Amino acid sequence: MGVYAVTGSYSGMGKEVVARLVEAGHRVITVDRGEADVVADLGTADGRRTAATAVLQMCAGRLDGAVLAAGIGPSPGHDRARLITQVNYFGVVELLEDWRPALAASGSSKVVVFASNSTTTVPMVPRRAIRALLQGDAEAAALPFRRLGRIGPALAYAASKIALARWVRRAAVTPAWAGAGIRLNAIAPGAVLTPLLERQLATPAEARQIRSFPVPIGGYGDPAHFAQWVLMMLSPAADFLCGSIIFVDGGSDAWFRPDAWPAPVRRRDTIGYLRRMRAFTKQR
Ligand code: NAI
Repeated sequence: MGVYAVTGSYSGMGKEVVARLVEAGHRVITVDRGEADVVADLGTADGRRTAATAVLQMCAGRLDGAVLAAGIGPSPGHDRARLITQVNYFGVVELLEDWRPALAASGSSKVVVFASNSTTTVPMVPRRAIRALLQGDAEAAALPFRRLGRIGPALAYAASKIALARWVRRAAVTPAWAGAGIRLNAIAPGAVLTPLLERQLATPAEARQIRSFPVPIGGYGDPAHFAQWVLMMLSPAADFLCGSIIFVDGGSDAWFRPDAWPAPVRRRDTIGYLRRMRAFTKQR
């Protein structure tokens, strides 16, 4: 049986994942700002360092997998946009960078990151913020949202999840991750009925927006079903899964952008494509 670290374990989908892993006989090290084995605020650099170090001590430097579910939603609030980028982006990436050697130590490990379908269904997300996050510049990432008022948090949420999904895709295929036997993937949920969504539905303005959002199959996702998706992504069935962002969103992404993906390589991208071919051959 394996040893797994799960963030966001106190509530919602993270909590369901912990229950399924324990049920399957695994040892789980939980991380949350609520009750957990490691209590830490992933919204601060100190909290992230504490969480990363404590988990490494508790697992004795060897992890079979990790699930990064801690996150905060796009509700309005003072300085909320900055906090969203801290928790949702740095609260995943910094932990995973610190845990990578422990994940590599098991020889075959799997990581599931919680992205979101806001990555493809929210317009006007500032590219500057996405770029800054990927460069690790928290201050620059927070700047574009200052002038955006009430819509700032929604755009910061989408930006944090886009940057996260890109980080997953970039890192997953490198020798440090794929080459070290670590399968790194993300799940991109639509609206799932967890405490995060319940809090939004309790605010009339947010509830109106959520209810008017196109979901072709209707209703909300069930957190227990997401735990099953995650368990599958941690299982041997996912041995060949690498750098994938799995959309489980009732069809919203397909509704908005049916032809956006899969897309053929554009003529103007051919040189870049050939460069990537060459880089891969060299790296082997
Ligand atoms: P939730 O609110 O039920 O659970 C989130 C957990 O993260 C909580 O236990 C909370 O204490 C923890 N957390 C939040 N901020 C933290 C911090 N600063 N430090 C440490 N722990 C912190 O949320 P839910 O819905 O289960 O969300 C799980 C993940 O799925 C999140 O990353 C969220 O962004 C993502 N997601 C959720 C959707 C939904 O509709 N529920 C839709 C798309 C993505």
